[in-house]
This record gives sequence, C-alpha cells and structure tokens, in this order.
Amino acid sequence: MESPFKADVVKGKVALITGGGSGIGFEISTQFGKHGASIAIMGRRKQVLDSAVSALRSLGIQAVGFEGDVRKHEDAKRVVESTFQHFGRLDILVNGAAGNFLVSAEDLSPNGFRTVMDIDAVGTFTMCYEALKYLKKGGPGRSSSGGGTILNISATLHYTASWYQVHVAAAKAAIDATTRNLALEWGADYDIRVNGIAPGPIDDTPGMSKLAPSEINSKSRDYMPLYKLGDKWDIAMAALYLASDAGKFINGTVIIADGGLWLSRPRHLPKDAVKQLSRSVEKRSRDAPVGVPRSKL
Ligand code: COA
Repeated sequence: MESPFKADVVKGKVALITGGGSGIGFEISTQFGKHGASIAIMGRRKQVLDSAVSALRSLGIQAVGFEGDVRKHEDAKRVVESTFQHFGRLDILVNGAAGNFLVSAEDLSPNGFRTVMDIDAVGTFTMCYEALKYLKKGGPGRSSSGGGTILNISATLHYTASWYQVHVAAAKAAIDATTRNLALEWGADYDIRVNGIAPGPIDDTPGMSKLAPSEINSKSRDYMPLYKLGDKWDIAMAALYLASDAGKFINGTVIIADGGLWLSRPRHLPKDAVKQLSRSVEKRSRDAPVGVPRSKL
C-alpha cells in the first residue's frame, strides 16, 4: 500500500531498530528508509540481518546490520555505538525485539518467565539506557535545540488478561510503564519523546505464527466480533507518525493499533433483538403500577 506520508518525513534521520530484520521490525525499517531515514538493524541471526540489509539496500536505502542480543548489555552498548560511528548520529530508537511462546502458567518455569522479561522489558530499557547519550539534545551529532525519539513496541495482552501469556503480558506491561516514565523524565530533561505502539494480531509475522497457529484462528474469531488481522504496514505508519514531526507533541503515549480488538466482547444479543427487547422492557415498566418491585414485572 502507498504511504500517505510525504517521502521526506524522516529525511536525514538515523534510526536503530532492534528486531529490525524480520516481521514488524523489518516493515518499520523499510518504511522509515523509504521516507528518508538511514537504518541500522540489530538482531541475533546473521543470515536474517544480511538478507534484510540487502533488501533495504536494493530499495536505495542506506542500511547496516549489527549482530547482537538485547539481553546482553555489552551488545546493546556496542550496537548503539556502532550505529553512531557508522552514520554520525542517532535520532530514532525502535525497540522491536521480542520473545514469545504460548504456555500455561503452571508449565512455565521461572526461567522461561525471566527469559521473556529479559528480552522485552530489560532489553528495551537497556537499549534506551545506552542510546540516551546520543538522543539527548546537545548529544554527539545533535544540536542543542532538539532531542531524538524512542518507540517501544508492546501489545494489548496486559490490558485485560490473556490465556497462556503471563510472561509476555507482564513484560509488555513493564514496557508500557517504561515508556511513560522515560517520557516524563527524558522529555523534561533532554527533549526526548518516548512513545509506544501496541499492535494487535498482525498478519504474516513470527508473533502471529507462534501465538495463533492457523488451526486455532477460525475458532478464536468466533468469540471476537472485532477480530481482524492488521498488516505490518499499519504498525509502520503509526511508527512514522510518532517518529516524524507529525507527532512532535506526542510524548508518553502508547498507540493501540489493533482495529479495536482489545475492546471486543461477544455480542450477547442481535442488533434487531435489542430494539424489541428494550422497548418491551420500557413498556412493561411504564404500565406497571407504582410500587411494584422490578423483579415482579
Ligand atoms: N514453553 C515453555 N517454556 C519454554 C518454551 C515453551 N514453548 N520455550 C522456551 N521455554 C523456556 C525454556 O524451557 C527455558 O526455561 P528452563 O531453563 O527453565 O527450561 C527458558 O524458556 C529459556 O529457553 P531457551 O530456549 O533457552 O531460550 P532462548 O534464549 O534460546 O530463546 C525464546 C528465547 C524462548 C523467547 C525464543 O522463542 C526466541 O528466541 N524468540 C525470539 C523470536 C520470537 O519469539 N518472536 C516472536 C515475537 S512476538
């Protein structure tokens, strides 16, 4: 789909995207690149990084890949520094790296819980921590008039509760809290905007194939009136909005990009029936003698 944004909305900016070699992260890398940014992607798998970088370069995007695991502090530090050394500045950090698997809480070991917390929650903070020096106004490669921006990708799992996702829901809740707290502190002190995006189920992503294998898709949809799959493009457009000047007054917000799914409830009454029922209830209560308890109507 064609982007509604002008092709230069992030021109001259440098973006570092963790998990940028595949899925949503790769689409954000691609769209940021198509809109003028230079792209550094961080990921654990060399092959995935290499093919993502050549795909970006084939579109004329300046791109580089750095191997690293966000769980390792030394990797986070090295990749942030390498990005700065390569491009001479850092404007946008996108924390997209995530780990996930379906497991019932009683079958999840504390180490399994910790693993996802380490990737999603601690990894996000570690990257922010290392990037701060380059993102703050007046930092290396940056004028004293403006700071950079951070986007943290979370989810909607923790807004209510999600089956077999206690570890991920806890991690995403921590990410959203980190987003708001850094927005407060770093917004005030360094002019850095920190926002989040909470995607719903997005088609053709590693997350979707792990969490909703095709055999359970149709069944779960029956219970979700608003169920629709989003596209990676939808998340990338939200990211462009937040990272560009279009979002210059947005700080500490998590944009939910899920088509309204998290609000979804099964429809307990058809729309036609509600009109009938509501009118007959009204009529009964109007006609009832004063003082008759509702239970007797
Ligand atoms: N069910 C239950 N426990 C699981 C599990 C599963 N499907 N997969 C991993 N675990 C547990 C392991 O048993 C281990 O705990 P233990 O030591 O108590 O046995 C712990 O999690 C760590 O597993 P390990 O395989 O050593 O971790 P890893 O670092 O190699 O991989 C994962 C990390 C598990 C998150 C892996 O799925 C991953 O790398 N994911 C990245 C990609 C991804 O998930 N993308 C989707 C994003 S939405």
